[in-house]
Amino acid sequence: MSQSPSHRVPPTSLEQCREVFQRSRRPEEISDALRRGELVDDQDFDAYLPQLLRFASRQYWTPIPVATLVAGWLAETGARRVLDVGSGCGKLCIIAALVSDLSFLGLEQRPHLVRVARKLASRFAIEHQVTFRHGTLNDVHFEEFDALYFYNSFAENLFTDDEHLDTTVSLSVERFHDDILRMEAILTRMPLGSRVVTYHGFGGLIPDSYDLTRSARTRTGTLRMWTKSRMENSNQYWLENEGITYFRHGHADDELWQVKAPNVVATRTPKELVRDDGGVLAEKVELLSDPDDAW
Ligand SMILES: C[S@@+](CC[C@H](N)C(=O)[O-])C[C@H]1O[C@@H](n2cnc3c(N)ncnc32)[C@H](O)[C@@H]1O
Repeated sequence: MSQSPSHRVPPTSLEQCREVFQRSRRPEEISDALRRGELVDDQDFDAYLPQLLRFASRQYWTPIPVATLVAGWLAETGARRVLDVGSGCGKLCIIAALVSDLSFLGLEQRPHLVRVARKLASRFAIEHQVTFRHGTLNDVHFEEFDALYFYNSFAENLFTDDEHLDTTVSLSVERFHDDILRMEAILTRMPLGSRVVTYHGFGGLIPDSYDLTRSARTRTGTLRMWTKSRMENSNQYWLENEGITYFRHGHADDELWQVKAPNVVATRTPKELVRDDGGVLAEKVELLSDPDDAW
């Protein structure tokens, strides 16, 4: 019978060396430090991601300081159940759950990311607070949650091919349009008191039945919390400043630049500005045309 070696086997490839080096903190140490309110480097957590997802972290996954702020803001308002719309590898849900009593459902269209997220939740021993579901906007009852989180979830549809996370889902401007319009309609139906937290903007319009109740300019982007304060929606909406990106369409010699939010094209009329430290956080806009006419 062969015996397993009692000594540790040293890494045999450069990649293994890097992993050993990068995983310098054990999951329990990371969790304990976060719970004590200590700063944890994103790299310490990201070391537990597969290599390609680790490389994508800066662009695609919420940084730890932002995730802890999300948890703090939501816990402070008495939120209990949070839906991360587009949860990726689960980083936001896991970090925010570790530092709070909030429970999270992460909805994600890419099945391989759902698998990674579940594995990570188990590694960080937080499965009792986080669940991950494979699906899209049709696969969840939004009204069951008292808070929604968006890290500019649909923007990838507008990225160039080389910026996409991978090629496992179909991405297009039409899909962006569809998801944004669907989400805007869901926001109008959410119960009173619902919170919507956006990082780098939601990409669409926030109905003016929501008030901007918190905002912070982090080193990596703006975080906003919107709270539904009225059931009636007027014809006015909030357009988040970072949500305003323009894209080109038409022929090269006849270029048109449109606002990314699909139903605000040329008809946008700024109404009001919300400011903190002198910067514009969101503009109030009026919808002057039928959304269907706009495209
Ligand atoms: C920028 S990542 C954010 C990940 C995570 N929320 C975080 O902050 O770490 C956006 C994620 O949303 C997912 N996503 C985009 N559109 C989606 C949709 N319609 N339904 C489900 N997931 C979607 C993408 O696959 C991607 O993983």
